[in-house]
Amino acid sequence: MPQAGLSLVEPISAPPERHPILEAIHRRRSIGKVTAEVPERSLIRQILEAGTWAPNHHLTEPWRFVVLEGEARFELGKMMGAVAANRELDPERKEAAAAKAAAKPLRAPYVIAVAVEPSLDPSVPEIEEVAAGAAAIQNMLLAAEALGLAAMWRTGWIAFEPAVREHLGLSTRAKVLGFVYVGFAAMVAPERSRRDVDELTTWRS
Ligand SMILES: Cc1cc2nc3c(=O)[nH]c(=O)nc-3n(C[C@H](O)[C@H](O)[C@H](O)COP(=O)(O)O)c2cc1C
Repeated sequence: MPQAGLSLVEPISAPPERHPILEAIHRRRSIGKVTAEVPERSLIRQILEAGTWAPNHHLTEPWRFVVLEGEARFELGKMMGAVAANRELDPERKEAAAAKAAAKPLRAPYVIAVAVEPSLDPSVPEIEEVAAGAAAIQNMLLAAEALGLAAMWRTGWIAFEPAVREHLGLSTRAKVLGFVYVGFAAMVAPERSRRDVDELTTWRS
């Protein structure tokens, strides 16, 4: 008779469990399709807070977040549409270019713009500030994964246009790193593979 609490289907030697952080790193996928359901703001706040725990040299905390929800996504889209129409040289295609760009921020209930404000200290290389910002975004993506939300880091040429930076109320020195779209998944996470780390690594001793 099996003892209470013991399952007969338990494998004799279970595979070693991966640490939850490693598990989340492997499981996280960019999810481009989300539902219209709006996650609680407290979840978004946890994602932002995770971003702020990224490493940052000289403790500059260079990341800045602008959370766009509701109508603010339409405003961003309108501005992006104007930028896209302006870039389109063919007058007959301007309207379509504007509509396409304007629809982009409506793809998720939350669009979080992430930028860095590089330190004014000339001894702090800008690349380190940008690197810290990228680390913050990865923390955010992993936090979303841990909270059961779908997220995707998106850029595109418009993200780097000065008009976007201005629209977000950032300084002229700020560098926009992209938008993190967040919502509840409306698709199965795509299969992804990575090159074997051994192909990419040289060990020296
Ligand atoms: C800096 C950066 C910008 C990105 N911009 C876009 C984008 O504009 N559109 C897009 O579809 N994916 C974008 N992605 C997401 C990548 O397409 C995605 O990470 C890649 O396909 C690998 O999939 P995974 O994140 O599920 O592992 C971006 C990723 C990074 C790091």
